[in-house]
Amino acid sequence: MIGVGIIGLGTVGIGTYKILEQYHSLIKDKSGQDIRVVKCADIDTKRPRDISLKQGIMTAEAREVIECKDVDIVVELIGGIEPANEYIRMAIQNKKWVVTANKALLAEKGDELFTLAAKQNVEIGFEASVCGGIPLIKAIRDGLVGNRINYILGILNGTSNYILTKMTLEGMSFEKALEEAQRLGFAEADPTFDVEGIDAAHKLCILIRLAFQCHVKMRDVVTGGITKIDPIDIEFAREFGYRIKLLAVAKEENEKIEARVEPAMIPVVHPMSNVDGVYNAVYIVGDKTGPTLYYGKGAGSEPTGSAVVSDIVDMAYRMRGGSPLPKIPSVSKAKKMRSGEKSFVPYYMRFTAKDRPGVLSKVSGVLAEYNISISSVIQKGRKENGYVPIVILTHEATEQNLKNAKAAIDRLAVIKGESVSIRIEEGRL
Ligand code: HSE
Repeated sequence: MIGVGIIGLGTVGIGTYKILEQYHSLIKDKSGQDIRVVKCADIDTKRPRDISLKQGIMTAEAREVIECKDVDIVVELIGGIEPANEYIRMAIQNKKWVVTANKALLAEKGDELFTLAAKQNVEIGFEASVCGGIPLIKAIRDGLVGNRINYILGILNGTSNYILTKMTLEGMSFEKALEEAQRLGFAEADPTFDVEGIDAAHKLCILIRLAFQCHVKMRDVVTGGITKIDPIDIEFAREFGYRIKLLAVAKEENEKIEARVEPAMIPVVHPMSNVDGVYNAVYIVGDKTGPTLYYGKGAGSEPTGSAVVSDIVDMAYRMRGGSPLPKIPSVSKAKKMRSGEKSFVPYYMRFTAKDRPGVLSKVSGVLAEYNISISSVIQKGRKENGYVPIVILTHEATEQNLKNAKAAIDRLAVIKGESVSIRIEEGRL
């Protein structure tokens, strides 16, 4: 028997427990592994949970799980950096194998933890840390091992995708959609992690480690959120044949990496544009496979519990001498980040301009000064106090030129307020 100890019996912990109990025989039939939960810890031992816990299994002390001699695999599901970091380190020092869904911890301290695990000859499983129920980590480590990967495009945060979908398809307000996502249990304890792109950036760091074999620090991921998306831009995007999504993008060219999480426009003909609601998807281009696409529920009790269970079963198999998975690069390889200077993408720009002759030529003059060429322009809507929205799509431009041009245009007397710019990600179809 392989004994499992769970630290943190919240949404994902309950899903994991349920699957391991309900499908004990199914898992045994499929994998030959006899897996039992033998200990669970949660600071709130009394809270009602819709599972019937076995007698004597529950404790308020994480240490009891880690030190229990019947626990072979410690599952950390409390989230956050501390004390999760301390518990995982303790478990590894105790020669326990570890499964975690903790993306923030792996993004911040992955190097140290994977190094420690390798030293102690144990493993850390983290399938549940990125995209809930999608077996993505396994696909990258195992399925794509014979490829160089140089492009990842992800919708990695269910909450923000749910909000943008509701705003796009139902015209719902940002606030109402966020409230719904929180009620449905998708959002992080601190929802700013979801809506400001931080949760997706954590996940992107993990994917980059596996796909590009190097470590990217959170501070090197350009990160922006969806809080300032104006419904008018969603509408214009639709007219131009795009959808706005919170896109996580990682590219590697000439040993340089660019990593970003921000709202961007994606063509409606791209499969990623139709990933809606709480669903996540990741589009990965391998040099041998070409584009591959992974889709599924990125959050929730049972989808994420299913990912935890898959790590446990995998480990149970390898603890008995099954063949190892391709290794996780523990210590960073030196790869440089590519700055916005060298990154060329098209942009969407929206200005609020005085409706009078010559305005458009002033705007296009500034764009030309910064070497930005226009691919299309629309001016629509009714005048509001003499002002109208002007929307421009540009050809590929660098981020710096775009910022400078935008600032210069905003200084023109005929322009009101701050203009909007949104990157366009064509998505390497
Ligand atoms: N808050 C996360 C999301 C949960 O909305 O995707 C899964 O990591």
